[in-house]
Amino acid sequence: MDPEIRRNRTAWEDASEKHVREYHQLLDRARHGSALFPQELALLRPLLRSSPTVVHLQSGHGLDDAALVHAGARSVVGVDFSSVAATAAGRRAGALRIPCRYVIAELPGAPLRDGCADLVYTGKGALIWIPDLAVWARDVARLLRPAGHLFVYESHPAVPLWSWDSDEPRIRPDRGYFARSHVNDTFPANGAREWQRTLGEIVNAVLAAGLELRHLAEFAEPFWRPDGVTAAAWQGQLPNTFALLARKGC
Ligand SMILES: C[S@@+](CC[C@H](N)C(=O)[O-])C[C@H]1O[C@@H](n2cnc3c(N)ncnc32)[C@H](O)[C@@H]1O
Repeated sequence: MDPEIRRNRTAWEDASEKHVREYHQLLDRARHGSALFPQELALLRPLLRSSPTVVHLQSGHGLDDAALVHAGARSVVGVDFSSVAATAAGRRAGALRIPCRYVIAELPGAPLRDGCADLVYTGKGALIWIPDLAVWARDVARLLRPAGHLFVYESHPAVPLWSWDSDEPRIRPDRGYFARSHVNDTFPANGAREWQRTLGEIVNAVLAAGLELRHLAEFAEPFWRPDGVTAAAWQGQLPNTFALLARKGC
Protein backbone atom coordinates (compact mmCIF):
# COMPACT_ATOMS: atom_id res chain seq x y z
CA MET A 1 0.00 0.00 0.00
CA ASP A 2 1.21 3.50 -0.87
CA PRO A 3 2.59 5.21 2.32
CA GLU A 4 0.19 8.17 1.96
CA ILE A 5 -2.82 5.82 1.66
CA ARG A 6 -1.53 3.85 4.66
CA ARG A 7 -1.37 7.09 6.71
CA ASN A 8 -4.93 7.95 5.62
CA ARG A 9 -6.13 4.50 6.61
CA THR A 10 -4.55 4.83 10.06
CA ALA A 11 -6.23 8.24 10.42
CA TRP A 12 -9.58 6.70 9.41
CA GLU A 13 -9.21 3.73 11.74
CA ASP A 14 -8.77 6.26 14.58
CA ALA A 15 -11.57 8.57 13.41
CA SER A 16 -13.95 5.60 12.95
CA GLU A 17 -13.65 4.71 16.65
CA LYS A 18 -16.27 7.46 16.99
CA HIS A 19 -18.74 5.12 15.20
CA VAL A 20 -18.02 2.51 17.86
CA ARG A 21 -18.33 4.96 20.79
CA GLU A 22 -21.61 6.27 19.33
CA TYR A 23 -22.82 2.81 18.29
CA HIS A 24 -26.23 3.08 20.00
CA GLN A 25 -26.97 6.66 18.87
CA LEU A 26 -26.11 5.69 15.28
CA LEU A 27 -28.23 2.55 15.57
CA ASP A 28 -31.12 4.70 16.73
CA ARG A 29 -30.61 7.13 13.83
CA ALA A 30 -30.46 4.25 11.34
CA ARG A 31 -33.66 2.77 12.80
CA HIS A 32 -35.75 5.95 13.01
CA GLY A 33 -34.31 8.43 10.51
CA SER A 34 -32.98 8.61 6.98
CA ALA A 35 -29.38 9.58 6.32
CA LEU A 36 -30.33 10.45 2.73
CA PHE A 37 -31.03 14.11 1.95
CA PRO A 38 -34.32 14.97 0.21
CA GLN A 39 -32.39 16.09 -2.89
CA GLU A 40 -30.64 12.68 -2.98
CA LEU A 41 -33.90 10.81 -2.57
CA ALA A 42 -35.51 12.84 -5.35
CA LEU A 43 -32.85 11.56 -7.77
CA LEU A 44 -32.60 8.04 -6.33
CA ARG A 45 -36.30 7.26 -5.91
CA PRO A 46 -36.90 6.28 -9.58
CA LEU A 47 -33.89 3.91 -9.39
CA LEU A 48 -34.88 2.45 -6.02
CA ARG A 49 -38.30 1.51 -7.42
CA SER A 50 -36.69 -1.48 -9.18
CA SER A 51 -35.09 -2.82 -5.92
CA PRO A 52 -31.48 -2.44 -7.07
CA THR A 53 -28.49 -4.27 -5.65
CA VAL A 54 -26.25 -1.47 -4.42
CA VAL A 55 -22.50 -1.24 -3.94
CA HIS A 56 -21.58 1.62 -1.58
CA LEU A 57 -17.95 2.66 -2.05
CA GLN A 58 -16.36 4.13 1.12
CA SER A 59 -19.36 3.17 3.19
CA GLY A 60 -18.12 4.55 6.56
CA HIS A 61 -20.66 4.17 9.37
CA GLY A 62 -23.18 2.68 6.93
CA LEU A 63 -26.18 4.85 7.89
CA ASP A 64 -26.76 5.57 4.20
CA ASP A 65 -27.08 1.82 3.63
CA ALA A 66 -29.91 1.43 6.11
CA ALA A 67 -31.63 4.41 4.43
CA LEU A 68 -31.11 2.92 0.95
CA VAL A 69 -32.68 -0.37 2.06
CA HIS A 70 -35.58 1.44 3.74
CA ALA A 71 -36.11 3.39 0.48
CA GLY A 72 -36.23 0.23 -1.66
CA ALA A 73 -32.74 -1.22 -2.30
CA ARG A 74 -32.70 -5.03 -2.36
CA SER A 75 -29.28 -5.20 -0.69
CA VAL A 76 -26.15 -3.12 -0.11
CA VAL A 77 -22.50 -4.17 -0.10
CA GLY A 78 -20.38 -1.51 1.61
CA VAL A 79 -16.66 -1.33 0.84
CA ASP A 80 -14.29 0.61 3.10
CA PHE A 81 -10.64 0.23 4.09
CA SER A 82 -11.39 0.96 7.75
CA SER A 83 -11.97 -2.32 9.57
CA VAL A 84 -13.29 -0.32 12.54
CA ALA A 85 -15.93 1.41 10.38
CA ALA A 86 -16.88 -1.71 8.40
CA THR A 87 -17.15 -3.89 11.52
CA ALA A 88 -19.35 -1.36 13.35
CA ALA A 89 -21.53 -0.94 10.23
CA GLY A 90 -21.90 -4.73 9.91
CA ARG A 91 -22.86 -5.06 13.57
CA ARG A 92 -25.53 -2.38 13.16
CA ALA A 93 -26.88 -4.03 10.00
CA GLY A 94 -27.17 -7.30 11.96
CA ALA A 95 -29.04 -5.57 14.79
CA LEU A 96 -31.40 -3.95 12.27
CA ARG A 97 -31.80 -7.21 10.31
CA ILE A 98 -31.19 -5.43 7.01
CA PRO A 99 -29.50 -7.00 3.94
CA CYS A 100 -26.23 -5.04 4.14
CA ARG A 101 -22.79 -6.58 4.34
CA TYR A 102 -19.35 -5.01 4.50
CA VAL A 103 -16.05 -5.72 2.76
CA ILE A 104 -12.79 -4.30 4.10
CA ALA A 105 -10.68 -3.23 1.11
CA GLU A 106 -8.68 -0.37 -0.34
CA LEU A 107 -10.32 1.49 -3.22
CA PRO A 108 -10.23 1.68 -6.15
CA GLY A 109 -10.05 -2.06 -6.84
CA ALA A 110 -13.11 -3.34 -4.98
CA PRO A 111 -12.81 -7.16 -4.59
CA LEU A 112 -16.29 -7.64 -6.09
CA ARG A 113 -17.20 -9.28 -9.38
CA ASP A 114 -17.66 -7.30 -12.60
CA GLY A 115 -21.25 -6.18 -13.24
CA CYS A 116 -22.45 -6.98 -9.70
CA ALA A 117 -24.15 -3.61 -9.07
CA ASP A 118 -27.35 -2.07 -10.39
CA LEU A 119 -26.34 1.07 -8.53
CA VAL A 120 -22.98 2.29 -7.22
CA TYR A 121 -23.55 4.85 -4.46
CA THR A 122 -20.78 7.00 -2.97
CA GLY A 123 -19.87 10.41 -1.56
CA LYS A 124 -20.20 12.51 1.60
CA GLY A 125 -16.46 12.86 1.99
CA ALA A 126 -15.28 10.03 -0.27
CA LEU A 127 -13.67 11.35 -3.49
CA ILE A 128 -11.13 13.54 -1.68
CA TRP A 129 -9.38 10.34 -0.49
CA ILE A 130 -8.95 8.88 -3.97
CA PRO A 131 -5.68 10.01 -5.60
CA ASP A 132 -6.49 8.84 -9.15
CA LEU A 133 -10.05 9.54 -10.22
CA ALA A 134 -9.58 7.97 -13.66
CA VAL A 135 -8.77 4.60 -12.05
CA TRP A 136 -11.68 5.06 -9.61
CA ALA A 137 -14.16 5.79 -12.44
CA ARG A 138 -13.00 2.73 -14.42
CA ASP A 139 -13.52 0.59 -11.30
CA VAL A 140 -17.05 2.00 -10.91
CA ALA A 141 -17.81 1.20 -14.58
CA ARG A 142 -16.50 -2.35 -14.07
CA LEU A 143 -18.77 -2.90 -11.05
CA LEU A 144 -21.89 -1.71 -12.86
CA ARG A 145 -24.05 -4.04 -14.90
CA PRO A 146 -25.09 -2.74 -18.34
CA ALA A 147 -27.56 0.17 -17.82
CA GLY A 148 -26.56 0.37 -14.13
CA HIS A 149 -26.18 3.78 -12.47
CA LEU A 150 -23.51 5.67 -10.54
CA PHE A 151 -24.81 8.14 -7.96
CA VAL A 152 -22.43 10.55 -6.20
CA TYR A 153 -23.57 13.00 -3.50
CA GLU A 154 -20.44 14.81 -2.51
CA SER A 155 -18.84 17.89 -1.03
CA HIS A 156 -18.53 20.55 -3.73
CA PRO A 157 -14.92 20.92 -4.95
CA ALA A 158 -15.03 24.64 -3.99
CA VAL A 159 -15.64 23.80 -0.29
CA PRO A 160 -11.94 23.76 0.73
CA LEU A 161 -11.92 27.48 -0.10
CA TRP A 162 -14.71 28.48 2.31
CA SER A 163 -13.70 29.73 5.77
CA TRP A 164 -15.84 28.74 8.75
CA ASP A 165 -16.29 32.39 9.84
CA SER A 166 -19.77 32.94 11.25
CA ASP A 167 -20.15 36.67 10.41
CA GLU A 168 -19.71 36.47 6.63
CA PRO A 169 -18.39 33.99 4.03
CA ARG A 170 -14.70 34.40 3.19
CA ILE A 171 -12.27 32.66 0.85
CA ARG A 172 -9.27 31.13 2.60
CA PRO A 173 -6.11 32.78 1.21
CA ASP A 174 -4.14 29.53 1.71
CA ARG A 175 -6.38 27.46 -0.59
CA GLY A 176 -7.00 27.38 -4.36
CA TYR A 177 -9.79 25.85 -6.45
CA PHE A 178 -7.18 24.58 -8.93
CA ALA A 179 -4.74 23.23 -6.28
CA ARG A 180 -4.04 19.49 -6.46
CA SER A 181 -4.37 18.82 -2.73
CA HIS A 182 -4.40 20.41 0.71
CA VAL A 183 -3.85 19.26 4.27
CA ASN A 184 -7.08 19.01 6.27
CA ASP A 185 -6.97 21.11 9.45
CA THR A 186 -10.32 20.14 11.02
CA PHE A 187 -11.93 17.00 12.46
CA PRO A 188 -12.21 14.15 11.50
CA ALA A 189 -9.34 14.09 9.03
CA ASN A 190 -7.05 16.63 10.69
CA GLY A 191 -3.53 16.31 9.26
CA ALA A 192 -4.51 14.06 6.33
CA ARG A 193 -3.87 15.05 2.71
CA GLU A 194 -7.07 15.55 0.70
CA TRP A 195 -7.04 15.43 -3.10
CA GLN A 196 -8.71 18.22 -5.01
CA ARG A 197 -10.20 18.30 -8.47
CA THR A 198 -12.57 20.68 -10.20
CA LEU A 199 -16.17 19.79 -10.96
CA GLY A 200 -15.16 19.57 -14.64
CA GLU A 201 -12.41 17.05 -13.84
CA ILE A 202 -14.86 14.88 -11.87
CA VAL A 203 -17.38 14.88 -14.72
CA ASN A 204 -14.66 14.19 -17.30
CA ALA A 205 -13.32 11.21 -15.28
CA VAL A 206 -16.82 9.71 -15.27
CA LEU A 207 -17.28 10.33 -19.01
CA ALA A 208 -13.80 8.94 -19.84
CA ALA A 209 -14.78 5.67 -18.10
CA GLY A 210 -17.57 5.32 -20.66
CA LEU A 211 -20.47 6.39 -18.43
CA GLU A 212 -23.17 8.74 -19.70
CA LEU A 213 -24.01 11.81 -17.57
CA ARG A 214 -27.72 11.93 -16.68
CA HIS A 215 -27.87 14.69 -14.07
CA LEU A 216 -25.55 17.16 -12.34
CA ALA A 217 -26.76 19.55 -9.63
CA GLU A 218 -25.16 21.87 -7.06
CA PHE A 219 -26.64 22.66 -3.65
CA ALA A 220 -26.07 25.25 -0.92
CA GLU A 221 -26.66 22.75 1.92
CA PRO A 222 -23.47 21.06 3.24
CA PHE A 223 -23.75 17.30 3.83
CA TRP A 224 -22.16 17.70 7.25
CA ARG A 225 -22.17 20.44 9.92
CA PRO A 226 -19.66 19.83 12.70
CA ASP A 227 -21.13 20.39 16.20
CA GLY A 228 -20.85 24.00 17.34
CA VAL A 229 -19.91 25.46 13.92
CA THR A 230 -22.27 27.87 12.12
CA ALA A 231 -20.33 29.04 9.07
CA ALA A 232 -21.75 31.90 7.02
CA ALA A 233 -20.58 29.92 3.97
CA TRP A 234 -23.47 27.51 4.65
CA GLN A 235 -26.22 30.14 4.65
CA GLY A 236 -27.22 29.75 1.00
CA GLN A 237 -24.88 31.98 -1.05
CA LEU A 238 -22.28 29.36 -1.96
CA PRO A 239 -22.24 25.79 -3.34
CA ASN A 240 -21.47 23.15 -0.70
CA THR A 241 -22.54 19.86 -2.30
CA PHE A 242 -23.17 18.40 -5.73
CA ALA A 243 -25.09 15.38 -7.00
CA LEU A 244 -24.04 13.44 -10.07
CA LEU A 245 -26.02 10.67 -11.74
CA ALA A 246 -24.44 8.70 -14.58
CA ARG A 247 -25.42 5.54 -16.43
CA LYS A 248 -23.46 2.73 -18.02
CA GLY A 249 -24.41 1.91 -21.60
CA CYS A 250 -26.42 -1.23 -22.42
C1 LIG B 1 -16.01 10.82 5.33
S1 LIG B 1 -16.16 9.06 5.32
C2 LIG B 1 -17.57 8.97 4.33
C3 LIG B 1 -18.19 7.65 4.43
C4 LIG B 1 -19.66 7.52 4.18
N1 LIG B 1 -20.08 8.07 2.91
C5 LIG B 1 -20.40 8.11 5.34
O1 LIG B 1 -21.18 9.04 5.15
O2 LIG B 1 -20.21 7.60 6.45
C6 LIG B 1 -14.84 8.52 4.24
C7 LIG B 1 -14.66 7.01 4.29
O3 LIG B 1 -13.77 6.64 3.23
C8 LIG B 1 -12.95 5.60 3.69
N2 LIG B 1 -11.76 5.61 2.82
C9 LIG B 1 -10.90 6.63 2.61
N3 LIG B 1 -10.00 6.31 1.67
C10 LIG B 1 -10.28 5.05 1.26
C11 LIG B 1 -9.70 4.15 0.31
N4 LIG B 1 -8.64 4.51 -0.43
N5 LIG B 1 -10.23 2.92 0.17
C12 LIG B 1 -11.31 2.54 0.91
N6 LIG B 1 -11.92 3.34 1.83
C13 LIG B 1 -11.41 4.59 2.00
C14 LIG B 1 -12.70 5.92 5.16
O4 LIG B 1 -12.33 4.79 5.91
C15 LIG B 1 -14.04 6.50 5.58
O5 LIG B 1 -14.88 5.53 6.15
